[in-house]
Amino acid sequence: MSTTEITRPGKGYSLGHTPREYERLRAQARVWEGATGRVLDAVGLAKGASCLDAGCGPGETTRLLAERVGAGGRVTGMDTDSSIGILAVEMLHRTGHRHCGFVAHDLTASEPVPGAPFDLVYARLLLFHLPQRAAVLARLWDAVAPGGHLVVQDYDLHGVSVLPGLASFEEVGRVIFGAFAAAGADVHVGARLTRLFEQAGAGTPDGTDVTGRIEPFGTGHGMFASVFRSLLPVALAHGITTEEAAAAALAAFERDAARFADSPMTWPLMIGAWKRKGLA
Ligand SMILES: C[S@@+](CC[C@H](N)C(=O)[O-])C[C@H]1O[C@@H](n2cnc3c(N)ncnc32)[C@H](O)[C@@H]1O
Repeated sequence: MSTTEITRPGKGYSLGHTPREYERLRAQARVWEGATGRVLDAVGLAKGASCLDAGCGPGETTRLLAERVGAGGRVTGMDTDSSIGILAVEMLHRTGHRHCGFVAHDLTASEPVPGAPFDLVYARLLLFHLPQRAAVLARLWDAVAPGGHLVVQDYDLHGVSVLPGLASFEEVGRVIFGAFAAAGADVHVGARLTRLFEQAGAGTPDGTDVTGRIEPFGTGHGMFASVFRSLLPVALAHGITTEEAAAAALAAFERDAARFADSPMTWPLMIGAWKRKGLA
């Protein structure tokens, strides 16, 4: 399968498209690999199946699909950002998954998903960012073949915390939540997946899965700080913080992470939902 023409990254996407953000996505994918594998195995992805990874990013979830369908299957990563798509395909082919390809496409466009139908349509951490999330989910449902599955995993940021509470953590969180809100993200979309499936015409999910994560602040703070850095251009553009205030907030955050390295920090919840489409 080949890579399509170069396209512009999605304009509204708040985390940006820098090499540092790509690396953050890879690190985040390593954290959630077990949770995603468990959901894919609950659905029971068959050898030889065709799959779409919608908003595939660096292709780590594409790889999990590819491992399950085997060389006789077909896995398409899809993203607005063709730079990350090219890197994803290189990684997938290098690691032996030559049955994977990439298509650059904006899933908010009001046209059918290219290459549909697929036996399994998967999306992780995509709907979170899209103000048109119900319409996009309806389009993804349309892209599922009769008898196939729609599988979504997304965040609910509600539970992110450190104990004891810290002013530096609160400030970094304020900027992150403010920037996501300004960009039209829904930081609780994971908890709303059942309702979204119904709004999208898929009906009530057949199954759901909730995964949490807790780790010492000394190691966990790094991902939180990276999200802050990726969101900073959006936060500055919306007057949520200033360059000076952001630098001071990050410095205080790093100091506290060293001082309270053993304090427990909880990550966002990763929430999954899936639905099988009836046979026509
Ligand atoms: C947070 S990343 C998640 C990547 C991957 N699904 C994962 O979980 O590792 C979200 C991805 O969605 C892509 N994206 C954002 N808006 C999109 C759109 N309208 N259509 C297709 N992809 C989009 C971004 O470029 C980014 O690669």
